[in-house]
Amino acid sequence: MSSKVKGVILAGGLGTRLYPLTSITNKHLLPIYNKPMIYYPIQALVNAGIEDILLVTGGNNAGDFLRLLGSGKEFGLKHIEYTYQKGEGGIADALKLAEDFADGNKIVVILGDNIIEKSIKTFVDKFAGQKEGARILIKKVPDPERFGVVELKQGRIIKITEKPKKPKTDYIVTGIYMYDAKVFKIIKTLKPSKRGELEITDVNNEYIRLKQMHYDVLLGFWTDSGTFESLLRANNLVARKTKD
Ligand code: G1P
Repeated sequence: MSSKVKGVILAGGLGTRLYPLTSITNKHLLPIYNKPMIYYPIQALVNAGIEDILLVTGGNNAGDFLRLLGSGKEFGLKHIEYTYQKGEGGIADALKLAEDFADGNKIVVILGDNIIEKSIKTFVDKFAGQKEGARILIKKVPDPERFGVVELKQGRIIKITEKPKKPKTDYIVTGIYMYDAKVFKIIKTLKPSKRGELEITDVNNEYIRLKQMHYDVLLGFWTDSGTFESLLRANNLVARKTKD
């Protein structure tokens, strides 16, 4: 079995927080400054040296991704695959669809609405050198209650809580996750959360329980872009950086 690191981009969901912007298109096709949102996670993976990508999408406009991205050659990709998530089962549910694509290899997963400034190559290289387990990228933010909040003790992550009302820290899990092949076994044990989704936070907490969770603090700016506020922020951050 070869042991390369493959990339998975999760770009499904109905984008309900952005209605009516998403009533006739997929959130990940909306513009972030001068490019469609989906270009940014692809570029993030390509810059990290990843050549094989699976795009998980969904909703009514899935065909538009194929028209936009084609074979992925323009991005310098060796290989891009597409698959389709029915409904809104959550991030871990979407990730399930990547099992065959991963084919026993390690994967780097990125949420299609996450916009980052700096390369993640160093972190992906560290993960490639890891014997087993997972690696997540965390970041200090002003509004941690919107995310998975991280508790740290003696340099290790001891717990992640999904969208707590009273966050214990300002550090959150960004939508960049690196997993060994065990992740698919873990997903099969999950039960839907209160919001009816299979939560990626439950996957991460299982790796913490196994003492196989590593982390790095992401450098440069990071934002999601799934709400009006964060979509505007992502546009402004990218515009400022592009004009520099
Ligand atoms: C998801 C995860 C959350 C993470 C965030 C990063 O939130 O559940 O833990 O911090 O992505 O963008 P969601 O976008 O589903 O609200």
